[in-house]
Amino acid sequence: MIYTVTLDPMLDRVVFVEELVYDDVNCITEDHKRPAGKGIDVSRVIRELGGESVLLGFAGGYVGSELTDLLAAEGIDTDFTRIRDESRSSITIFQRKNKTQTLLCTRQPVLDRSEIDAFCAKTDAIPHGSSVVISGNIPPGMEGGFFADLITSLKKRDIKVCLDSDHEAFKLGVAAGPYMIKPNVFELNRLAGSQASQPEDIGKFAQPYLENIEFIIVSLGARGAIGLSKEGSYYAKPPRVNVRNSSGAGDSLLGGFISTMARTGSFIESLKMGVACGTATTLDVSGTICRKKDIDTIEKEVIIEKF
Ligand SMILES: Nc1ncnc2c1ncn2[C@@H]1O[C@H](COP(=O)(O)OP(=O)(O)OP(=O)(O)O)[C@@H](O)[C@H]1O
Ligand SMILES: [Mg+2]
Repeated sequence: MIYTVTLDPMLDRVVFVEELVYDDVNCITEDHKRPAGKGIDVSRVIRELGGESVLLGFAGGYVGSELTDLLAAEGIDTDFTRIRDESRSSITIFQRKNKTQTLLCTRQPVLDRSEIDAFCAKTDAIPHGSSVVISGNIPPGMEGGFFADLITSLKKRDIKVCLDSDHEAFKLGVAAGPYMIKPNVFELNRLAGSQASQPEDIGKFAQPYLENIEFIIVSLGARGAIGLSKEGSYYAKPPRVNVRNSSGAGDSLLGGFISTMARTGSFIESLKMGVACGTATTLDVSGTICRKKDIDTIEKEVIIEKF
């Protein structure tokens, strides 16, 4: 089974009004709600490809219950650790007349020790041989080495961990030797203290991390991705597409990679599928991820070059 981790899931709500009039009643003409979070998008892509995953993280209050219900309605299994504080939520007010958006966000929930321990009890129960995708950052109040400790404990039970994070949490997590990492080029440069931009340079700076990491994928936005393993280095180039929104592209790459890796064990096929999913996600408006029919078309056009 594949497990995805979203420590701080959020409930995004987008409401449409004709024009926001202050000190008056405003009529909402359209209203959408959607769970958001990097691991949530990874689970969505796994599902789109016909696989299953269990989503782990913290969920509290009414928002937490709604997140669980909405994800279940999408066909995504969750095993959230319930917390006392309310999960994060946001409201975007979209004014049709002047085409402006106003975003209101609640603060992140505060976690206590017993809640963090309850989450760790769930990760301790993940069966041998599973895969775990850890995405995003560590919420305030948790130790910076939380991902690193989690990786160390999961590795002892032969669990493959993919890590997609940034800054200190990523640095410490990388040192714990996960199975796979997926930085974008900026995250790699922050990790390595480099300023690489060309594929060969990026490969050179990422290469040393192969010492304790099996697979490294550095994503390069429209240029595709570089995949490194002990067997070789590859450059996966997607076709040129009409991009509408690229948010969630990296999470889609990860979802495509892990589901294909779990199914086939082939790094090249998984890299290719990852890039196809990332590029397919850019075809649609914000808040949506790749669709199977686009993935299938794009996958045939992804070019893999060894270098
Ligand atoms: N403009 C684009 N055109 C075509 N494909 C794209 C574009 N942007 C992203 N992709 C695809 O998505 C993959 C991942 O994108 P990117 O490098 O932007 O990840 P990221 O920065 O981690 O994204 P995020 O964290 O916002 O989800 C790329 O390897 C590529 O296949
Ligand atoms: Mg990313």
